[in-house]
Amino acid sequence: MTVVLAEHDVTLHCGDVRDILAHLPSESVNCCVTSPPYYGLRDYGVDGQIGLEPSPAEYVETLRQVFAAVRRVDAPQRRHLAQVPQWWRVVVGAYRER
Ligand SMILES: C[S@@+](CC[C@H](N)C(=O)[O-])C[C@H]1O[C@@H](n2cnc3c(N)ncnc32)[C@H](O)[C@@H]1O
Repeated sequence: MTVVLAEHDVTLHCGDVRDILAHLPSESVNCCVTSPPYYGLRDYGVDGQIGLEPSPAEYVETLRQVFAAVRRVDAPQRRHLAQVPQWWRVVVGAYRER
């Protein structure tokens, strides 16, 4: 996790979302804006990247864990904006694999 900007009351962290969320205090985030990777669509060339899990079910579980971590840092008056991947394909894929 790297701080790439720290000016006035803005601190910009860069790193694995799970690591950054783990370092943020509880109930400290007012707004979460996210565009998670789609499943199996792109290799961003980063170790531990989300979206290249061995199965859609594991991808969904990864995102579930990330959003659970977001929930911990959510301030009471939080706002979320999420660009949602093609869930129905992911869920159907995971379902079909059962
Ligand atoms: C769908 S793209 C978002 C693109 C971005 N909204 C934009 O307009 O450029 C998903 C992004 O998630 C990043 N990513 C993948 N795994 C990650 C992880 N574990 N932690 C943080 N970012 C991750 C990828 O590097 C990629 O930039």
